Amino acid sequence: PTPIIIDCDPGHDDAIAILLALAHPEQLEIRGITTVGGNQILDKITDNALKVLSFVNADIPVAKGAAAPLLGKLVTGEQAHGESGMDGPALPASRFKPVEQGAVEFMLEIIRSSEEKITLVPTAPLTNIALLITAYPEVKEKIEKISLMGGGLAYGNVTATAEFNIYVDPEAARIVFESGIPIVMSGLDVTDKAAIFEKEILELKSRGPVSVMVGELLDFYSIYGKKMGYIGSALHDPCAVAWLLQPELFESEHLHVTVETEGRLTRGMTVADRRKKPDRAANTQVLLGVDREAFMKLLFDSLDRLDRE
Ligand code: BDR
Ligand code: CA
Repeated sequence: PTPIIIDCDPGHDDAIAILLALAHPEQLEIRGITTVGGNQILDKITDNALKVLSFVNADIPVAKGAAAPLLGKLVTGEQAHGESGMDGPALPASRFKPVEQGAVEFMLEIIRSSEEKITLVPTAPLTNIALLITAYPEVKEKIEKISLMGGGLAYGNVTATAEFNIYVDPEAARIVFESGIPIVMSGLDVTDKAAIFEKEILELKSRGPVSVMVGELLDFYSIYGKKMGYIGSALHDPCAVAWLLQPELFESEHLHVTVETEGRLTRGMTVADRRKKPDRAANTQVLLGVDREAFMKLLFDSLDRLDRE
């Protein structure tokens, strides 16, 4: 299996991304989970990660990372994710605790001690990853790739041009995109197409306990989506995991992508060079389309697997 580290801020869709990865141990080996301030403050989202793992009995080490972006103050996603960062289901208290190490040292140790290269799966602001590769640039060679959720070529969701994960820490995102590590970007172009509809959420709630819990997460999560004018709920973060499991479900283009950190209207925008003759070589595989039906089948089958355990 591919060894991965998930760097997240659960977060409804982060929780679903974790579950999706957990359902496929023959394909993905989760070596660890790191957390970062994003959808809610660090303590809340770390507790959420531990609760999700407890719920499915998965004793995977969790390390706490950065509480705030490289510069300035944390902007949270409370409007979408609620006061806890993962409002909705009444989950039992976690049986696990985070490890003592901070996220950067934790990732460093995993990467250094691993014989194989590690794939990073960030579904949150890129603060931890930027800190890691800035402090220990030698680890870049041992990172196979970064399959991340963030950005969008066509539009943003926090501002007209910026997507939340990039908007929260544009400086970190820029460091990651310019690192030379191969990147697979699940931005809004694809994640908005990976939307789940109400009758599918209802179907989830008629199944086993893990599916029901995900249905309850999505019930809450879809309230904000509806308020913002969307019919379905975009499964943003699960795309970054789904691509690792079934890349053939996605359409993509290889492009040079970097991040605007200064623009008055465009701070946090992912800027892709789509000219026929770009100035710089492609550094990112940008996912742009997905077979939605097949994606839903993957999700439902994966949750069924966890329900049968
Ligand atoms: C991203 O922002 C967060 O609210 C979600 O968890 C996802 O990672 C979508 O813009
Ligand atoms: Ca997230």
